[in-house]
Amino acid sequence: MNAERPIGIFDSGIGGLTVARAVTELLPQETLLYVGDTAHLPYGDKSAEAVQHYALRIANFLLNRQCKALVIACNTASAVAFEAVASLAAGRLPVINVIDPVVQAVAADSSLHKVGIIGTRATIRSQVYERKLRQLRPDLEVVSQATALLAGMIEAGFYNNQVSHAIIKNYLRYPDFADIQAMILACTHYPLIRTEIQAFFPPEVRIFDSTAPVALQLAHELDTWSLRATARTGAHQFFVTDFTDSFEQTTRLFFGEAVHLEPLALWE
Ligand code: DGL
Repeated sequence: MNAERPIGIFDSGIGGLTVARAVTELLPQETLLYVGDTAHLPYGDKSAEAVQHYALRIANFLLNRQCKALVIACNTASAVAFEAVASLAAGRLPVINVIDPVVQAVAADSSLHKVGIIGTRATIRSQVYERKLRQLRPDLEVVSQATALLAGMIEAGFYNNQVSHAIIKNYLRYPDFADIQAMILACTHYPLIRTEIQAFFPPEVRIFDSTAPVALQLAHELDTWSLRATARTGAHQFFVTDFTDSFEQTTRLFFGEAVHLEPLALWE
């Protein structure tokens, strides 16, 4: 595997750009090849079988493009398709999901006794966070709730305003969340509403999202595999499986700057 090859990164759509952004900030010498499967958005309401099918096809495309590492920048795909993608990669390159780095960060904080999780229906239904947290911290109480409206709400531009405050409040006043010490934002879109979520809880409640922990984990894996690039080899490429202008306009929200999206005919 050649260290100058790009890192393959994919999501159901453009929310995974929050992870891509964290990667470019920590590892500016790396080149990204991003795929957003906008043709099948949202993954959060699909069956596990459907998401596995989509994730495998995208991973196959990225492997054919000789990516040196794969990042599943989607909580739903990480929850239900990580093992399938990892077996496709068959130990030839690092495969990173957005769940394990956060689980490790939460488990490492021994002051936490009860944590909450919010994410898509498919992520919450999979109970993958509960399972992984229990392996590392059997003493930790974990409570979760699907917050199905939030990803679409953010994509439509509703965050940091009265509408988003009302919807977020409605979800977070779930009685089980009343005495949590930390909240895991188990969806790629939620870093954009991190401040609103923090404001709902007392300041001592810790909020975890996957962006920084995933970038750090990727850096660690690249070092382990001796795959760190020395310099950018070209421009990042961003593909979507169904192109619309509104997707392109929304990229700025998630990536911090406008991104040029290229159509990718993966499903024809
Ligand atoms: N990217 C998805 C996730 O992180 C959210 C959007 C969707 O449901 O496709 O779970």
